[in-house]
Amino acid sequence: MRRVSFPKDGRSRRQNLGTQPLKAYRIFSRPGLLTEGWYPLFPSRELKAGETRPAELLSQRLAVWRGADGVARAVDAFCPHMGADLSNGTVSGTSIRCALHGWKWKPTGCLESTPCGLRPASEPKAASYAVEERYGFVWVYPAERAPYAVPAPAGLEGKELAFAHLGSYDLYAHQHVLMASGIDLQHFFSVHGVSADFDFEVEALGPGRADWKVEGELAETGLMGAAARFLWGGRLRYTARFSGGTVASLSYLAKAPWGPLHVLWGCVPLETGLSRVQVFLVAPSKGPLRDYPRLALTAALFAALKRDDVKAFPNVRFQPGHLLRSDASVARFIQWAEELTPSAWSPAPEEDHAHT
Ligand code: FES
Ligand SMILES: [Fe+2]
Repeated sequence: MRRVSFPKDGRSRRQNLGTQPLKAYRIFSRPGLLTEGWYPLFPSRELKAGETRPAELLSQRLAVWRGADGVARAVDAFCPHMGADLSNGTVSGTSIRCALHGWKWKPTGCLESTPCGLRPASEPKAASYAVEERYGFVWVYPAERAPYAVPAPAGLEGKELAFAHLGSYDLYAHQHVLMASGIDLQHFFSVHGVSADFDFEVEALGPGRADWKVEGELAETGLMGAAARFLWGGRLRYTARFSGGTVASLSYLAKAPWGPLHVLWGCVPLETGLSRVQVFLVAPSKGPLRDYPRLALTAALFAALKRDDVKAFPNVRFQPGHLLRSDASVARFIQWAEELTPSAWSPAPEEDHAHT
């Protein structure tokens, strides 16, 4: 059996630069950049009421706590007084108390009180960030208010959902590459053996959010082709939903009795240039007896796709050199990602495009 090496250090980004120089992008797949978007931090059960803990996203350090009211919150980690790490602090009601001099900070990051009763002349404030809990995870957005909630897969907005956390994986590449491969229509045939003549259209959902609607006529080739015909009949239709360059979901419109199958990825870039992804299976909740078989079928579908993908993707140093007309969906994704907004947690990319 062929041995596949699984890169975990992003080293391939720096290889062959003399003979294969990297094309630079301002935002797409750019290491060290955190765009605006929702970031998954850790499972909700790992933060009990009255607990504090740190969270790190590249070089941004946060203090996260769950107040006595059960609500999770996040502020910049360094105390506005003298810079102690607030994640070493303690919870007091809904606020966090700094471990060094005991100043108490409200969920908004504003100063609530000092033990001595005196207050500084100007009102200090720690930047606070929007926090939501969804799919059993604590998510954070790099702004005080998020412009939209943690996304749901296409067609599941506002519905009560069943979900399962499939695990946490380090990708072979930056998360934008994973996203681009979700709508890389040529690879469905070459990697997965699903032969379909695809069309796609892009529907903008708001700044930094869009649906790629893909539809194709299936030809029966190989085992995957037969499985695809069983699940989808003659036509394959799916929607890839991208939100802020950090959350992606795929929704496959399967035949009755299964209905659509949904998987959602929440991604955090790492120092290495690779990304860590939390994978969630999602379904509209219809009671456990109907939810579990559907989640299990979704897991089986994505395990089959992943088994194929690991033959092709390890060590990918994504570098679209010669795109064909059939690569238009990938080109469009890169164009879309380049319009994403860098967050306050990353300096704006320099215009000289000098990175690799
Ligand atoms: S450093 Fe936080 S209260 Fe002084
Ligand atoms: Fe794939």
